[in-house]
This record gives sequence, C-alpha cells and structure tokens, in this order.
Amino acid sequence: MENSYVLYHDQIIKNGSIPVDVEDRGYLFGDGIYEVVFVYDSKPFAFDEHFDRFVQSAKKLELAIPYDIPTFKHLTEELITKNNVVNGMVYIQMTRGVAPRNHLYERNMQSVVTGFAKSVSLDSIAQSQSKGIQTYLTKDIRWLRCDIKSLNLLGNVMAKREAADFDCQEAIQHRDGVVTEGSSSNVFIVKDGTLKTHPATNLILNGITRQIVLKIAEQLHVPVLEESFTVDELKEADEVFITSTTMEVTPVVKLKGEQEQTYKIGPVTTEFQKHFKKQIEKSTSTLKS
Ligand SMILES: Cc1ncc(COP(=O)(O)O)c(C=O)c1O
Repeated sequence: MENSYVLYHDQIIKNGSIPVDVEDRGYLFGDGIYEVVFVYDSKPFAFDEHFDRFVQSAKKLELAIPYDIPTFKHLTEELITKNNVVNGMVYIQMTRGVAPRNHLYERNMQSVVTGFAKSVSLDSIAQSQSKGIQTYLTKDIRWLRCDIKSLNLLGNVMAKREAADFDCQEAIQHRDGVVTEGSSSNVFIVKDGTLKTHPATNLILNGITRQIVLKIAEQLHVPVLEESFTVDELKEADEVFITSTTMEVTPVVKLKGEQEQTYKIGPVTTEFQKHFKKQIEKSTSTLKS
C-alpha cells in the first residue's frame, strides 16, 4: 500500500503510529532540514549528492546527525522497498529535536528523523516537459540563507500560491530585478547559445539537478555563465527552463506578472532534457548490474 510505512528515527514503522511532540523545534521554529530524492525504477537517483547536501545543511545549522550516512541511506532504501515505490519520491526530514520552547537552541540535541516515500506518475512530468509550463514573476521575499535546505519555506510556499492563482505552475523570484530561482526549482536562461543561471551563493539553493545540468553543459561544451541575470534578460531570453528533482528539466513557455513573455521550447532545452534522461538511464542500469 502507498505510503504505508514511514521512517521514524532509525525504524521503518507503520504510518499513523509516529508520536509527534508539540514541542518539536521543527513545528515551533521550522528548525530542521530535509531532502527529496527521486526514485526511478526503484532506485534513488543522485543519492550521494542529496546526502552530501543534507550533511552540509546540517552543518550550517549545527544539527547533529544521529547516525552515519550509510545507515541513513540504508533506511531510505528500505523505505522505498517497503512502500513498493518504483517511480516516485522519498522525503527525509530531520528536526533539531524536542525541548521546552525557547528561541535559543542547545547544541547536540537529539534530532528527530522522519521520512516517507510515495509513487509519482512519470506521465505528468513528461507532459510538463513536452508542453512547457507557465511561470509567474514575483519578488523574492525570503531570508538570506536560501543555500540551506531548511524546513522554513514560507516565502517559497507564498510564491507558489501566488503563481497558481495566476494559472502558473511555478514562480520565478527576483531580488531587486535580479532573478534568483523558482519557488522549488532553479532557473536557467539561454541567450545566443549560452546558458546563464544564478551562481550558487546564499541567495539560492544549489539544486542537485542544477549541478547535473552544469556537468552536462561541460560535457557538451555548451558555454555557461554562472552569473546573476536581470528580469530584463529573462524577458529577452531565447529559451528558459527550470530544473528540480521532481521536474527534471522543464521548459518555460510563458512568463506572467511584472514582466510578460512567451517562449518557444528551443533546441538547447530539448538537448538538456535528452541528456538528463540519459543520466537517469545510466544510473538505473549501473545500479542494476
Ligand atoms: C528553492 C529551491 N530551489 C531549487 C530546488 C531544486 O533543487 P533540486 O534540483 O536539488 O531538487 C528546489 C527543490 O526543491 C528548491 O526548493
């Protein structure tokens, strides 16, 4: 059964039986981190990269990781198997833990780890990838540590809601006219054959998909500028696409909001989609053998 088993500390248990403490700092302060890993053909994709980022996020927030990474990975795999996920996603969360409510945290508290896995239809992703998505340009109102994959996602969820209200699947955020990233994705533009994306600073999450796309660009000798770009450059781009674990490489066909534009799905975007798929195939076949 879908999502029947969940991860709680180092146990895989029946869903519905997790004791949730009201003074878990994850609830009180959003004091915790998470990762979303995609599962293709029952295998987690870019597993090492996601766990590396998990460790980095934990370090930046002084969160104590309660067990070693191989154990974490093993539990994640078990969660996928127990829930019979063939194509889908696995979500792993770690909060700082439970303590009487106080802004001040103590170091090395007992973290609380939870997770779930569920199936995702690859058809709906494929549809967005072949048709493209509409996006809504809005102000980036988030804090200045967007490099941490923290549970604090209010700015992101508000941007996503705003985008949906304008019939858009994703928001594209900007700080004073400089495009940062989507509400749950990174943004790339193509101009005269060159890719441009915001550098991996504190202002964006350095997406795993973004990093894979940058590696593909290197292999294909496609010029890349990891430089910030303006909303005017976004408007004048030849092609625009977003990247994320759950959306892979998805073309943008429409920009709404403060700037309006219509884009064609161009050859650079389709080339990256194709090569990203090849990476997925490579990873599932390597893991099988
Ligand atoms: C704010 C933000 N940026 C970028 C991404 C893309 O990251 P990844 O490719 O690792 O999924 C995400 C994914 O959820 C995100 O939430």
